[in-house]
Amino acid sequence: MSLDGKKAFVTGGGSGVGAVIATMLAEAGAEVTICGRRPAPLDVVAATHPNIMPVVADITDEAAISKAIAACAPDIVVANAGASESAPFAKTELASFERMMSVNLTGTFLTLRGATRAMQGKPWGRLIAIASTAGIKGYPYVAPYAAAKHGVVGMVKSVALELVRKGITVNAICPGFLDTEMTERSIANIVEKTGRSYDEARASLEATNPMHRLVPPEDVARAVLWLCGEGSDMVTGQCISVSGGET
Ligand SMILES: NC(=O)c1ccc[n+]([C@@H]2O[C@H](COP(=O)([O-])OP(=O)(O)OC[C@H]3O[C@@H](n4cnc5c(N)ncnc54)[C@H](OP(=O)(O)O)[C@@H]3O)[C@@H](O)[C@H]2O)c1
Repeated sequence: MSLDGKKAFVTGGGSGVGAVIATMLAEAGAEVTICGRRPAPLDVVAATHPNIMPVVADITDEAAISKAIAACAPDIVVANAGASESAPFAKTELASFERMMSVNLTGTFLTLRGATRAMQGKPWGRLIAIASTAGIKGYPYVAPYAAAKHGVVGMVKSVALELVRKGITVNAICPGFLDTEMTERSIANIVEKTGRSYDEARASLEATNPMHRLVPPEDVARAVLWLCGEGSDMVTGQCISVSGGET
């Protein structure tokens, strides 16, 4: 497939699944802008492909993310940046709940709204949110994260209907536990809180997946590419699970 002439904006493109998505979009010919808060990881990814440009922007900062998306004038926007925290529900601090809402839901709102504004008047566009299986089902100890990701799925389904006659599709991709830095932090957290070994902690996350393995980021990136390619024009408002049958 060719994305020559298309511009893409990927939030959280400096690491994990965002970096893989940015790379695959660039390899398909798109000019890709990646954003995040830390310049160093963005620069490392940008150095791997001439079509990838870094921009420092926090998705929870309305002015910064709006300006970055407007400057890119994208045809494809992947709202991928996110973060997770875990705690038993009774011990969950309001501040933690608010952080989860801010980055995972408000940040995705600002990204998708910026994308919708930037695409006004364009005949074709793709808005893709990387939600989670936690946007479809519940998991213990991550209620605020799951609440935010359910919110993302609801927002995607609604925006899709608003844009349905404008050539712009809006979809969520819902991965299970991914083999990325975020999951490494979750494993470290389990080791610290339970005293289990690294291998036991990793196995406990792999066991949540019917295939008993973590989801490769490349599988998520290929789903993004499929949504951007020919033959997916009528796929909109969907929540696509990439989870080895978990949901
Ligand atoms: N890991 C999993 O098991 C899993 C499963 C399902 C869904 N997901 C979702 O997949 C997405 C990517 O996760 P990942 O596993 O690739 O995690 P990751 O490696 O931790 O990447 C997250 C990226 O988001 C960026 N980011 C975080 N907060 C930001 C903010 N306020 N503004 C701008 N950028 C921000 C980070 O860069 P900076 O820190 O430099 O800002 C980082 O590059 C997330 O939405 C996550 O919820 C992950």
